[in-house]
Amino acid sequence: MLSIIVAKAKNNIIGKDNKLIWHISDDLKRFKELTTGHPIIMGRKTFESLGKVLPNRKHIIFSHNPDFKVSDENVEVVHSLLQIQDYIDGKEEAFVIGGAMIYNFLMPYVKKMYVTQIEKDFEGDTFFPKIDTNIWEEVENVEGPKDDENDFEYRYITYVRKDK
Ligand SMILES: NC(=O)c1ccc[n+]([C@@H]2O[C@H](COP(=O)([O-])OP(=O)(O)OC[C@H]3O[C@@H](n4cnc5c(N)ncnc54)[C@H](OP(=O)(O)O)[C@@H]3O)[C@@H](O)[C@H]2O)c1
Repeated sequence: MLSIIVAKAKNNIIGKDNKLIWHISDDLKRFKELTTGHPIIMGRKTFESLGKVLPNRKHIIFSHNPDFKVSDENVEVVHSLLQIQDYIDGKEEAFVIGGAMIYNFLMPYVKKMYVTQIEKDFEGDTFFPKIDTNIWEEVENVEGPKDDENDFEYRYITYVRKDK
């Protein structure tokens, strides 16, 4: 089962110059709590922006480049949807962690989305796709804890795919 996890601005921006734009400590803590022990699926650019392999999570990295390799036992480089079919069909929750290309590509196969919704517009170059409320039902919406580092508020919103 695939779940998306994303932090997005009010105007759906998620990144700029292959970097995250904000630093929200509680959100990073939540990302770690939710994803630890689970496979994480990402695009090659997001992997490069992480800068390292995160502990205790199997990394599945999409690339079109057959020569792209990462020598780490917790990393698998994949090139097609078929290679992640077991994660799509399986019971275990696997997290799609971005970026925009991979969110767009895998959204049709995702069952749940954990969205950190920042209540402010940002400038950037990478967008999360629009959330279609005909397809997605909001099942949780809580205010994120106050954060002295930031001048904006943010909410943790969970969506599940509506039954057809
Ligand atoms: N706010 C958030 O929650 C969040 C989360 C993650 C990332 N981000 C931000 O998003 C930005 C990166 O996003 P992005 O859209 O530019 O890149 P991305 O989705 O991370 O990676 C794109 C790369 O993935 C590979 N790829 C994509 N679709 C594929 C497919 N169908 N088959 C095989 N390989 C495929 C290609 O790699 P090759 O070029 O090697 O072929 C492509 O260049 C950064 O700014 C990052 O900070 C934000």
